[in-house]
Amino acid sequence: MSKRSAAWLAGWIALGALCAVARAQEGVGDVVYVPTPQTVVEAMLKMAKVGPNDYLIDLGSGDGRIVVTAAKKYGTRGFGVDLDTVLLKRAHESAKREGVTDRANFIEQNLFETDLAQATVITSYLLPEMNEKLRPKILKLKPGTRVVAHDYHMGEWRPDDNDTLVVPEKTVGNPGISYIFMWYVPANAAGTWQAAVPVAGQTLAVDVSFDQRFQMLSGNAQINQRPAQIQGARVKGEEVTFWLVTGSGAGAIRHEFNGKLQGDTLTGILRVHAGKKVGEAQFSAKRTAPGKLDLSAAEPPAAAL
Ligand SMILES: C[S@@+](CC[C@H](N)C(=O)[O-])C[C@H]1O[C@@H](n2cnc3c(N)ncnc32)[C@H](O)[C@@H]1O
Repeated sequence: MSKRSAAWLAGWIALGALCAVARAQEGVGDVVYVPTPQTVVEAMLKMAKVGPNDYLIDLGSGDGRIVVTAAKKYGTRGFGVDLDTVLLKRAHESAKREGVTDRANFIEQNLFETDLAQATVITSYLLPEMNEKLRPKILKLKPGTRVVAHDYHMGEWRPDDNDTLVVPEKTVGNPGISYIFMWYVPANAAGTWQAAVPVAGQTLAVDVSFDQRFQMLSGNAQINQRPAQIQGARVKGEEVTFWLVTGSGAGAIRHEFNGKLQGDTLTGILRVHAGKKVGEAQFSAKRTAPGKLDLSAAEPPAAAL
């Protein structure tokens, strides 16, 4: 072999080795490719209760397993985005093999530029800093949109639901263990609310002022002009739940509100627990003034700047 062809051959061998290394670390963009184990995919879809009326977007879709499983098992429509064209090809092939190309699509796109507007469910297996970067965009989506993430959290936006799975076949990330986190995009329930609720032969005048941070509500309340303690107040999509407690000890009366928010109206059921007695009534509260809504990250302490 001539010197020239030996060098040419060596060049190709080196390039081949380089390509093999590159493919060994699959995935393009801000995080390498690590597939979510199939048992975890199933658990994520179950937690989100996906169905045929959902539209699912998987951000960084890898071989497409989340979108394809949702389409095949639950009839869910949706798409995945990725920057790795080899993985995108695999995802398209998987959709074809499973007979779901009418419902499952895959697009070459940077996930930070994806239009999420039509999503009812968003799934991800991304690094926490990526989740947090996506957070402001997600929080602007329609209230009730579910977000399910494998292994990584959303910073100060605490999950509404979570689960820990033992996954012996998982060797990367958190070996042997998978965490699933789920959030509902919260509606804006901040403000001053007033209602007059006829229950157990009397009318309760309810006044509540809520500040809202992500899905958590805090503030102050009165029932019939007397202070009431707010407990367990939170928003889950458009659902608002809270307790107002008046009195104390054995004489405490607990008012349990479960309502649905539509604009400036909150309607639902009030259950009044007084000792062993439980009274029940429908309520409709009106928002009479807006409140403080905080969906942003806390300012870093001055020392950290
Ligand atoms: C950890 S894998 C998860 C794959 C899949 N969602 C799953 O759970 O099996 C992350 C994927 O995100 C893709 N990715 C990373 N940064 C991206 C970006 N900026 N835009 C689109 N995809 C990206 C990678 O190519 C990789 O396939």
